[in-house]
Amino acid sequence: MSQRKLRLGAFIMATGHHIAAWRHPGGQIDAGTNIDHYIALAQTAERGLFDQVFVADTPGLRFEGSDEAFSRQGRVSYFEPVTLWAALSAVTKHIGFVATASTTYEDPFLLARKFASLDHISKGRAAWNVVTTSAENVYGNFGQDKHPEPEVRYEKAQEFVDVVKGLWDSFEDDAFARDPASGVYFDPAKLHPLNHVGKHLKVAGPLNLERSPQGYPVIVQAGSSEPGKELAAATAEAIFTAWTSLAEAQAFYSDVKGRLAKYGRRPDQLLVLPGISPVVGRTQAEAESKWAELQKLIHPSVGLNTLEPFWPGEDLSKWDLDAPPPYIPQPPLGRNSRAHVVLELARRDKLTVRQLYEYLAGARGHWVVVGTPEHIADQMQSWFENGAADGFNVMPPVLPESLDDFVDLVIPELQRRGLFRTEYEGTTLRENLGLERPANQFSVKARKAA
Ligand SMILES: Cc1cc2nc3c(=O)[nH]c(=O)nc-3n(C[C@H](O)[C@H](O)[C@H](O)COP(=O)(O)O)c2cc1C
Repeated sequence: MSQRKLRLGAFIMATGHHIAAWRHPGGQIDAGTNIDHYIALAQTAERGLFDQVFVADTPGLRFEGSDEAFSRQGRVSYFEPVTLWAALSAVTKHIGFVATASTTYEDPFLLARKFASLDHISKGRAAWNVVTTSAENVYGNFGQDKHPEPEVRYEKAQEFVDVVKGLWDSFEDDAFARDPASGVYFDPAKLHPLNHVGKHLKVAGPLNLERSPQGYPVIVQAGSSEPGKELAAATAEAIFTAWTSLAEAQAFYSDVKGRLAKYGRRPDQLLVLPGISPVVGRTQAEAESKWAELQKLIHPSVGLNTLEPFWPGEDLSKWDLDAPPPYIPQPPLGRNSRAHVVLELARRDKLTVRQLYEYLAGARGHWVVVGTPEHIADQMQSWFENGAADGFNVMPPVLPESLDDFVDLVIPELQRRGLFRTEYEGTTLRENLGLERPANQFSVKARKAA
């Protein structure tokens, strides 16, 4: 039996990942702004010994499509991630908190300060999901005239992450004497302004916050395009990704792991965590009926709206829902990795329009597995033991119901197989994930100079 253990994150989409989850009786209708709902979810995930909980984020609300489809969306009102996690860190002890924040639209100094604060408040359980923001229409919230091109966003993202890391290292770990007897509080020689002037950013520093318990929060990255993978290889410690077949996931896994060496990093310093949306039943028939019940709740206007981005400029309302799409376009090369996943699925499995949007409705193109706890564990084990995953982002279709199902039924099965922990190993997220605490870059420089 392998000693290597699965890393598990609970990817929390307020009402659940299924697009119609908010209409389901097992859901929480006002989930996005219900703190008690989130508290219960974090505690359930901790009961299940998950490494982390994670929320995605877009800094704005824009919708493309009809008012009819818009009025039926359940995800229009929800909390800012770092604020939410700060509250939940006070009612949990072990679970890590991954918050999404945008390098395209946030300010690096404020972001560094917020995340370092979260790491202190949670006693070493913070992580930052670095995104360049996939939504192309929120720039107006930030005084910009357009969404920058992917190459520019990723170039800035790399500089941004370096700046933020520099700010997190402002104080060396042993900068604080706090000695009432001598009256010396800290050593200014161990405080380092950044004075960064680069292509996209100009940030003086230092940060007015000492180094946090983990050194700095765990860095997560969630883009799968070429520049996304390069950013992950250079700086991330975990990468979130979406695949629907073992072969694709294996190819991605070896691709990103293979990019680490040129940055002087080892393959085990980056955890690859694909998404899995499990629909769990005590029997296969029960799981399938749960899935069918959810699919019945999708209004066709909402379903078609999920397909619109992949057929730009096309009026989908005229399409026959029970026939395959009239044509399948070539996805734009190297740009949006999700378009590849979706269009390839349509082509490979010859899905009808309704089947395609039903698939997307489950988890927006992530891997959906419908079945018994044993079946779901088999699938996870197969990806884990065959070079496709170091663990998973578990994406419950309906919350809270589907997270309870996973914790009560699938986690014990994974533990029986020796694939998952039976108690937390450490106190910080890094310790639980098996990641090193990074050294302070200024202390390292000082040691080298000495
Ligand atoms: C699990 C997962 C979560 C993600 N969360 C976000 C998010 O919260 N905000 C965001 O802007 N992008 C997020 N992304 C990244 C977008 O999907 C990504 O920008 C998109 O795939 C296009 O970028 P790429 O071509 O580099 O993949 C996430 C991706 C994955 C796989």
